[in-house]
Parts: sequence; structure tokens; C-alpha cells
Amino acid sequence: MSTLAARLLDWHDAHGRHDLPWQHPRAPYRVWIAEVMLQQTQVATVIPYFLRFVQTLPTLPDLAAADEDRVLALWSGLGYYRRARFLHRAARICVERHGGELPRDFDALAALPGIGRSTAGAILAQAHGLRFPILDGNVKRVLARYHGERGWPGATAVEKRLWAHAESHTPRARLADYTQAIMDLGATVCTRAQPRCAACPLAGDCVAHRHGLTAELPQARPS
Ligand code: ADE
Repeated sequence: MSTLAARLLDWHDAHGRHDLPWQHPRAPYRVWIAEVMLQQTQVATVIPYFLRFVQTLPTLPDLAAADEDRVLALWSGLGYYRRARFLHRAARICVERHGGELPRDFDALAALPGIGRSTAGAILAQAHGLRFPILDGNVKRVLARYHGERGWPGATAVEKRLWAHAESHTPRARLADYTQAIMDLGATVCTRAQPRCAACPLAGDCVAHRHGLTAELPQARPS
């Protein structure tokens, strides 16, 4: 296993979040709703919205059958309402083409509205324990610092290198824990401003930390 993965899993066991509502049970529909909410919104804000959403619409067919207004009302306050419309459209596609379930096939999943490469990986890793890397904004920051990757992470070449790093660190076991752990590290320790390197399990091998570059990496979009 990569050193990064081993250290992250130990950190997750000792300090990670084990009581998030989409972890119990870790059903694909619940993980999907949570991941879409978490694309632009922090965990603490998401939790009450998530609970209300899955109480009101507990299954994918319930979501597909709901009026769009009802779905938007459940989203009200979370912002980025396009996410709610995509969720609703994707649920209807799953009912029409995938037997009312979220597909387990990566390409079919990533092709659904509102689910890109990273969210598809996050769903398959957490709900099914499948080995897919993730690379959302938080993970980009962790990996750019750890590997000392220069350049703006939105640039194609930089993004390609970051995906290669993400792929190489993804372990073969404990996919749900690893996926949650690397996202949590980015959200709570390896933050954009004032990262808490003293509490970071990766600091010893982190290029940015060792060279005093955490404030410079990842680099901003060139203006
Ligand atoms: N950001 C996206 N998905 C997340 C998750 N499962 N936990 C924490 N932050 C996230």
C-alpha cells in the first residue's frame, strides 16, 4: 500500500468521522445524494438537508416520481440548485434505463447528470468498495501539496498528473474508509488557508510542508 494510504487509514481509525448519516447504511442512493450535496457544501451544513431529503424521498424511485418543485423545496437553502435538477433528471434516467437503481458501471454512472469522474468514483468506492480514485477540490489540494505539484490544478496537464497521483495512492482494500479519509483530511486539516500541518499524518512526506510551500500550493488560476 502507498505510504500515504497507510497513514491516512490509521489517521481515519483514530480521528476520522465514523458517524456521518450516509455511512449508516452506506446504500448507493444515500451516498449519491450526500456526494452531490457535498460537491459545494460543507459536511456540517449538509447533514440536516441530507436527513430531511432521505426521510422525504427514501428511495431512488421516490425521487424519480416526485415533482421537481418538491425536490427543489427540499434543496432550498443549500444553493447551486442546478444540482437538485440534475439529481432529479438522473433519477428518472435510472428508472428508465437502469431498473430503478444507480448503475454500478463506472461509465454509466459518470454519464448521469451531475455526476462526473470524481463523484462516480466516490460513490462506487463508498457504496460498493470498488477501487476508483477521487479528485475533488479538497483532494486536489492535498495531492498538489504532498507531491509539490506546481501550476493551477484546473489546467489540463496539472489535472492529469493529479489524477495519476490519486490513482497510484488508492488502496485495494478499505475503499470507503480511504475515500472518506482523504476528503476529510482536505476539508479539516489540509485546508486552503492555515493548514494544520502539526496534526497532519502526511506532513513528514509532504513536499509543500517540507519546503515551506503550503501557502503557495496549489497555485491559483493564472489571471
Ligand atoms: N466532500 C465530498 N464528499 C465528501 C465526504 N463524503 N465527506 C467529506 N467531504 C466530502
